[in-house]
Amino acid sequence: MTGTTTSVDWKRVRDDFPILRREIDGAPIVYLDSGNTSQKPSAVIEAMDAFQRTSYAPINRSAYRLAAEATDHYEQARAAVARLINAPRADDVVFTKNATEAINLVASSWGGANLRAGDVVLLTHMEHHANIVPWHMLAQTKGIELRWVPLTPDGQLDLSDLDQLLDGASVFAFTAMSNVLGTLNPVAKLVTAARDAGAMTIVDACQYVPHNVTDVQAWDADFIAFSSHKMCGPSGIGALWGRTELLDAMPPYIGGGNMIADVRLDGFTCAPVPAKFEAGTPPITEAIGFGAAVEYLESIGMAEVRRHEMELTRYAIDSLNERYGDDISIHGPDNVEVRGGVLSFAFRGIHPHDLSQVLDQRNVCVRAGHHCAKPLMRILGVNATARASLYLYNDRSDVDALADALDGATDIFGF
Ligand SMILES: Cc1ncc(COP(=O)(O)O)c(C=O)c1O
Repeated sequence: MTGTTTSVDWKRVRDDFPILRREIDGAPIVYLDSGNTSQKPSAVIEAMDAFQRTSYAPINRSAYRLAAEATDHYEQARAAVARLINAPRADDVVFTKNATEAINLVASSWGGANLRAGDVVLLTHMEHHANIVPWHMLAQTKGIELRWVPLTPDGQLDLSDLDQLLDGASVFAFTAMSNVLGTLNPVAKLVTAARDAGAMTIVDACQYVPHNVTDVQAWDADFIAFSSHKMCGPSGIGALWGRTELLDAMPPYIGGGNMIADVRLDGFTCAPVPAKFEAGTPPITEAIGFGAAVEYLESIGMAEVRRHEMELTRYAIDSLNERYGDDISIHGPDNVEVRGGVLSFAFRGIHPHDLSQVLDQRNVCVRAGHHCAKPLMRILGVNATARASLYLYNDRSDVDALADALDGATDIFGF
């Protein structure tokens, strides 16, 4: 890619994604919606296909060799996910449906067991609904209190009153990276502040893990949640990582097969973690795809992915601002050291939905809407934004295509 100084051949990376060779109306797709969900490389598609063709069988249940082999593949995927986030133990990675379910699991199981009326959960103004609604639900059922960390004008967390906000809090649940502003939060610092105040931490790492080196031991958080589909893997599977002692002590989330040690007429006992939290037949093939996605990202290197995206984000902010000046307003910090490749913007007063439809005429795929962050939209004073989000397969030509397509929108809406 032009402008990138690393050893990775980014053109080859792009070629790894078959859908990017597809054309609509004779022109290629410009996919700028990876913050929503990412495209899949051949390695992931082929790993899932090969597993279904040669090794598919139930896991954890049957003594025959094919089932043992499928179980091995499933556990290897767990080990790969654990390795990617530098988890000390693979068994502390629980496969969930997605990040949303992972956060609900903690709120429901840990929160259900440990929170009482009047207990405080601290959130931030930049959370996705997945890290708001589960806590609102606990507020409704248990009477917990929610507090909020506000934002600075450039879309970073305003930490000036953090100590007061954490005073007496039981939980601090926050995102590592905003899906609207792109802001990267100082996770280790926030965890330390929470720990000093005696609060448990859960990090919504859904936008972070796909784009950065993640080290749960360096973060020292209690739980982190993320989704496979945003990191080159399939949808239908995500992960919760938690501290062994917390996961061990938590009650199960849902009950059924696979999560028990014993069931009697008068009760049941749970299987150890992670099976305790994986009731029922899990998404087996999706786990294989998740593991393959991790291996694919590892083959490139997460530090390289981050470098590539920093360079591209800088290019995008500079070229859009240069070309459109005051007519474009990009939310979030300007400094790419503290932001990822998510670019929410307002353009010449054109409604984001209209804008995205016009961009689609040029095959430019961006998301328009509230991005499941309605409290943040209200704080920004908008109903919606258009959002272009970058990933490892994007390059400067995608950013240029976006900039050109915005000109097309200008023509249609008469500027
Ligand atoms: C910051 C953040 N958290 C949580 C989620 C929820 O992810 P999922 O829908 O995969 O559960 C998203 C999805 O957009 C997100 O961006």
